[in-house]
Amino acid sequence: MTLHSRRIRKGLKIMTIQEKILVRGSTAGRVRPEFDGAPPTRRRLAQVAARTRAALLRRAHMFADGMRDRLTGADGTHGKHELSELTIDSPHVAAGVHFVSTPRAVLDWVHACLPPDPEKPAWTFLDLGCGKGRAVLSAAARPYGRIVGIEFARELAAEAHANVAAAGHAASRVSILQDDAATATLPGGPLIVFLFNPFGPAVLAPLLQRLGQAAAGGQPILVAYVNPVHAALFECDPAFETRTLPRGTAWKLSLASPYRLALYAAGPARRQTMR
Ligand SMILES: C[S@@+](CC[C@H](N)C(=O)[O-])C[C@H]1O[C@@H](n2cnc3c(N)ncnc32)[C@H](O)[C@@H]1O
Repeated sequence: MTLHSRRIRKGLKIMTIQEKILVRGSTAGRVRPEFDGAPPTRRRLAQVAARTRAALLRRAHMFADGMRDRLTGADGTHGKHELSELTIDSPHVAAGVHFVSTPRAVLDWVHACLPPDPEKPAWTFLDLGCGKGRAVLSAAARPYGRIVGIEFARELAAEAHANVAAAGHAASRVSILQDDAATATLPGGPLIVFLFNPFGPAVLAPLLQRLGQAAAGGQPILVAYVNPVHAALFECDPAFETRTLPRGTAWKLSLASPYRLALYAAGPARRQTMR
């Protein structure tokens, strides 16, 4: 057993003890609402336990993705970079979140919530802040009509391009654009917007406005928001309807995901049947 996996086993053991003490089922770094009225010490402990659990899950997913890279060949999408290390020509850098890729299992769970396969060819999958292209590659393995990744950091966009080409998806179905999500032209037609907490309200709020307008004009729009730090923006916007996750996926996420997932529908997509 490697030192890394020993640490993870040790961490999981600690997590189980903490859960036994107080926070059975705290999800994705957040304390369950039952703790809202709890005494401050108990709530603080619950917070620490929930954060520890999320951190351990992040490590476990990173480990699992690393193993998969070792077994099947790396696709070049892993890593972590601060935006200050990268070449970015945009006035929105301060609102941007550093690069880290979505765990592959989380992507599988996201796709499991989206329109069923016979309907997928009608939809464009758009990853805003696509990093090195992991979510784009996961979409390319499914029958979406078009897949678009937008990334404002020059080095990451170039790597995403190379990773997509290396995977044999350089055809017209997939495109990577080096652009600012705040101003980039959004694809027309039925649109799935994938967000892995890429930016803060300074970019997200105007984006919601643009999406809301497009939806009001008849464009079906679904949003899959992983680690929805700014979910309140969607929840306060009448253009967006919060969708319930399919029960099986919701259960897997609450059990094994370090991140929450929020789904929203706008325009004609409000009538879209999910899974
Ligand atoms: C958390 S990472 C998500 C990576 C990717 N979606 C994935 O699943 O692997 C956030 C990414 O958003 C990018 N980003 C942040 N603000 C942006 C903006 N205004 N326009 C385009 N990309 C942006 C960052 O450079 C970073 O690569």
